[in-house]
Amino acid sequence: MATTDPELERIAAEQHNCLRCHAMPTLAYRSPTDGEIVDLSIDRNALAHSAHAELSCVECHHRSYTRYPHPRRAAPRDFDCLGCHRDDADPRFAWDHIETEFAHSVHARSEAPNAEGFSCQSCHHPHRFRTTQIGDPLTWIVQEHNQVCLSCHTQLISAASASHDWLPNRAAHWDAVRCVDCHTPADDHANHRILAAEDSPRDCVGCHSADARLLARLYHFRSEEDIARTGLIAKAIYNESYVVGMSRSPLLDRLSLAILVLVVLMLTAHGVGRYLVHREHKRSS
Ligand code: HEC
Ligand code: HEC
Ligand code: HEC
Ligand code: HEC
Ligand code: HEC
Ligand code: HEC
Ligand code: HEC
Repeated sequence: MATTDPELERIAAEQHNCLRCHAMPTLAYRSPTDGEIVDLSIDRNALAHSAHAELSCVECHHRSYTRYPHPRRAAPRDFDCLGCHRDDADPRFAWDHIETEFAHSVHARSEAPNAEGFSCQSCHHPHRFRTTQIGDPLTWIVQEHNQVCLSCHTQLISAASASHDWLPNRAAHWDAVRCVDCHTPADDHANHRILAAEDSPRDCVGCHSADARLLARLYHFRSEEDIARTGLIAKAIYNESYVVGMSRSPLLDRLSLAILVLVVLMLTAHGVGRYLVHREHKRSS
């Protein structure tokens, strides 16, 4: 992208200094300590759409990385999200609130060895993190936000995982609602106080009712145009799906029930018809 802002040009040039190597998808090395492959590549496109697209690499990484070969064990500089953001006056983000909520989450409190050192970065990689905007497609939001959790909780993707079996059609729910819509307290808008399994509600009615908890959460990202465009239907259709019971239109709920009854009647009539034809065949042969 051509830019005329000299400040942005300087940042782009500084980024390019690093990305000429680090944008190579194959850049990686084998860790001398545990033998794991460490991926050193950066996705240019994800970076360009991230919250930090206009930040030079050396704002966070030590300036000595501008030399190559890199000096051994160049110290990280400023990795802590809140270290940079706590005093930032951007009214869109309640940093203090997020910090407190996170401190109360199951991850921050867990004594499990693999939860040690859990931090903001465990879920938000600063190269890729971008915030959700009102009007982003809901299906995309659900996928992005669930991917954060599933990148660690991979065992849940397996069909053998039974912890969500109580939920009818798990796949449909996971495509339509976010993990955080269930795993955080209903009154919390920041979604950072992840509850332990035993405290997570199995609350069908919380979503499948006219006063649904999703309205203040996931569906808060719907754009005004989206809501206005489809009028009556929009009052009943969310997230490209019809959430049974959540409709604001009793007429539509009754209509869908009527259609259901009609379908059942048609299926029965069809079955009876086939039976009669079958009997007719048998009699004539
Ligand atoms: C000539 C290619 C090249 C350039 C230019 C380059 N790097 Fe690297 N970088 C590497 C390679 C190869 C490694 C693997 C380890 C090593 O050789 O030190 C690496 C390792 C790193 C690591 C350590 C990753 C880890 O976890 O061990 C960081 C951080 C890093 N580079 C940041 C930067 C930054 C920031 C810049 C720009 C200021 C930059 N690099 C420029 C090739 C490059
Ligand atoms: C807002 C701060 C921030 C900026 C800006 C930033 N980084 Fe990073 N970078 C980090 C953090 C934090 C990690 C460690 C992530 C982890 O370990 O999970 C990291 C990790 C890395 C790694 C190790 C591999 C990896 O992806 O974990 C490389 C290489 C790297 N950064 C290069 C760069 C380059 C090149 C740029 C500029 C295009 C850049 N970084 C911009 C914070 C930043
Ligand atoms: C070295 C300091 C530094 C660190 C570390 C850092 N940020 Fe930022 N961040 C910035 C700066 C500076 C901006 C403003 C960039 C701009 O205006 O384009 C920014 C922008 C943002 C924004 C606003 C983006 C928008 O839409 O306007 C968010 C949200 C954000 N950062 C979250 C994070 C998170 C989460 C982390 C930790 C994973 C983090 N930051 C780590 C310096 C930092
Ligand atoms: C367990 C994973 C996880 C951890 C840990 C985590 N976040 Fe988040 N964060 C999320 C998810 C998922 C979303 C999207 C939900 C939303 O936007 O409501 C999000 C959204 C955000 C947003 C944008 C939404 C908003 O509130 O406006 C910011 C800013 C943010 N996180 C900052 C942080 C900071 C700072 C920390 C560390 C104190 C942190 N996060 C720790 C998962 C996490
Ligand atoms: C960096 C890896 C990581 C990410 C990302 C992550 N988790 Fe976790 N999660 C853990 C670890 C580790 C534990 C504690 C050990 C355990 O119970 O397996 C845990 C525990 C939990 C528990 C408690 C399980 C119990 O038995 O009580 C829940 C619920 C949970 N996570 C949900 C989420 C949700 C929702 C997200 C996304 C917003 C998420 N996690 C993101 C690693 C992660
Ligand atoms: C409809 C609400 C709902 C949704 C959506 C949901 N969960 Fe759960 N989840 C629960 C409840 C309730 C439990 C407790 C089940 C039990 O204890 O039998 C649970 C249990 C868990 C556990 C602990 C059990 C285990 O197998 O480790 C983890 C971790 C977890 N969920 C993560 C997630 C992640 C990640 C997502 C998103 C892909 C998600 N959940 C989506 C309600 C939900
Ligand atoms: C976090 C909110 C939430 C919770 C909790 C929830 N649901 Fe749902 N449910 C949805 C949404 C959204 C859909 C629409 C999915 C679609 O069809 O795309 C849905 C769809 C369904 C469907 C139709 C699924 C299909 O096959 O298309 C049934 C049946 C259902 N839910 C029953 C339940 C029951 C029973 C519970 C409690 C055990 C429950 N739901 C809990 C949000 C929720």
